[in-house]
Amino acid sequence: MKTKHFKHILLVCASLLGISLAGVASAADVNKLVAVCANCHGKAGASTESEVPIIGGYSVDFLVNNLKAYKNQDRACPETEFRSGSKKGQKTNMCNMVKDMGDSEMKLVAQYFSKQKFVKAKQKFDPELARKGKEIHDMSCEKCHSEGGSVAKDDAGMMAGQWMPYLRQALDEFSTGKRPIAKKMKLKLDDLNKEDFEALVNYYGSIK
Ligand code: HEC
Ligand code: HEC
Repeated sequence: MKTKHFKHILLVCASLLGISLAGVASAADVNKLVAVCANCHGKAGASTESEVPIIGGYSVDFLVNNLKAYKNQDRACPETEFRSGSKKGQKTNMCNMVKDMGDSEMKLVAQYFSKQKFVKAKQKFDPELARKGKEIHDMSCEKCHSEGGSVAKDDAGMMAGQWMPYLRQALDEFSTGKRPIAKKMKLKLDDLNKEDFEALVNYYGSIK
């Protein structure tokens, strides 16, 4: 009687474990996913492609939010292509990249990138515009994007040393409503014109 009872408990435990493990991505799955990301975002998220954002060192929350935004197509998915790997040259977009990812995979992938270093891009900028951009940033953006947009735990992305072509695209998407945005940030952007945007982009690009 005792053994039978014990066996039953074991079975129940196993099935409970089975259920809870089914939804959890394994370390091997995460390595596979991250290897796909590297085809465009570079090694450890340190993109060397000016249209592909650097994502190493971003916060977990920011990454998960944005992966979900792509999955729900709340955020625009401009066409891009594989920069390396076996699919090199093949067209795709970020929504395709995440469409089969579950919440736990997103979290694990985000944790992986959050532990990497944000390696600032080396790029040319206009020093005059950068000075003007810093003034605009300090007045309108620093409150949420502290230290020039270099603090991951602000959960607001990373602009200091981010690729300038990507930042231009991001500002354009925010101001034209193609990407979700905090209302207070939208109000700030609405006060600025194209030249101000260019000044901001040069400022972020100037941060070494
Ligand atoms: C085929 C190239 C390609 C692959 C592969 C790829 N990405 Fe991207 N990713 C991009 C491009 C280009 C952008 C910027 C344009 C956009 O918004 O779609 C981007 C944007 C992002 C952003 C938004 C960053 C920000 O600053 O807002 C995140 C997060 C991201 N990718 C994560 C990933 C993850 C995680 C993977 C792997 C599962 C991955 N990407 C695979 C090309 C790619
Ligand atoms: C009220 C707070 C707030 C203010 C003010 C604000 N932002 Fe943001 N910003 C955010 C948040 C939150 C995000 C993250 C949105 C997301 O998850 O996609 C963000 C994201 C961004 C991004 C995308 C970063 C990335 O890595 O993809 C850029 C670029 C940006 N903001 C520029 C600006 C600029 C320029 C200003 C000033 C003119 C500004 N923001 C003012 C809150 C703010």
